[in-house]
Amino acid sequence: MEAPHSWCDVRFTDLTEMSRCLDPDGSLGGSTLEQHILAWCGVLVDPDSEEDELRHRQWSTHELWFHERSRRYGREHAFGGTFWAKDKFAPPPLRPAGAGNTVPFGPTDPGRWHATSTSLHTVLEDRRSTRRHDDSTPMTRARLGEFLYRTARLRLEREVDGVEYGSKPYPSGGSVYEIELFLLIRNVVDVAPGLWMYDPVVHGLAPVREGLEDPSVAALLREATHSSTVATAPQVTLLMAPRFGRILWKYEQMGYAVMLKHVGVLMQTMYLVATDMGLAACAIGSGDSDLFSRATGLDPLECTTVGEFLLGSPHPDEPFQERPA
Ligand SMILES: Cc1cc2nc3c(=O)[nH]c(=O)nc-3n(C[C@H](O)[C@H](O)[C@H](O)COP(=O)(O)O)c2cc1C
Repeated sequence: MEAPHSWCDVRFTDLTEMSRCLDPDGSLGGSTLEQHILAWCGVLVDPDSEEDELRHRQWSTHELWFHERSRRYGREHAFGGTFWAKDKFAPPPLRPAGAGNTVPFGPTDPGRWHATSTSLHTVLEDRRSTRRHDDSTPMTRARLGEFLYRTARLRLEREVDGVEYGSKPYPSGGSVYEIELFLLIRNVVDVAPGLWMYDPVVHGLAPVREGLEDPSVAALLREATHSSTVATAPQVTLLMAPRFGRILWKYEQMGYAVMLKHVGVLMQTMYLVATDMGLAACAIGSGDSDLFSRATGLDPLECTTVGEFLLGSPHPDEPFQERPA
């Protein structure tokens, strides 16, 4: 028997022993010696004494479990980068599968981008969330290409002991780079509306679903619009979808937490590059992974969304908000 905040786990050698801890009605609310011991271990809490305290009520069960089990808390067994799957399963490759029909963005011009880039200080100070896009002057394909090149392209690939590692403009724990970018494109000059996947190796876009009419794709766009609290739909919704096996093949217990950290560093990298390019950017805090699975047909146990980000040309009437709305 374990509870997220207990200082130990309790192991019962048989079920009759465990049943002695239960009241005749099957509850754990009584005051037998066994129940006192469980309370002392921290696996049994008295709901009456704690239900009105914020420090208890603020935690949903799964979040407290997730927090405590994805940190060490003295439970060192099978935790961290153990490479537990090494002798059982082949390591998932660095390159995403199915990116064979990629349309490359074409020649890049990093030298010019470097020359026109503003200082880090200016970019940090100017960065803000901009939610309204200007459909009279939408973002172009070339600008989208520059944004993806500067945030998410694969710039180095290396194999060590049969495992492929990479390097991109943002950092990644263990050089794993599990997050793939899918783009829900509504309005970009020279890119057909629909769902696309970014190919970080070729630096191009691979088609996933044409148009925005598919019910799941349409619902994804509605969801993104709703999340940004503005009435008009975003020009581009970037969907961050890890290939879970890339990271869970190596890490135990903390892999999912690491993925969410990667979403954070990628979001900030996108904010900074978008600011430097004069694009409108806004992180999104919630999304619908099930819609993504239905839109792409991908197995949600292998790859689905854990983060979203909106991008477009900034609307001239976007009010500057010094403080959150
Ligand atoms: C992880 C994360 C999630 C966010 N989620 C949303 C969201 O769902 N909808 C939204 O309109 N803004 C969202 N934002 C933007 C914040 O509201 C914004 O960063 C905050 O108000 C501070 O304003 P600023 O970014 O302009 O400095 C999110 C930002 C972050 C970093």
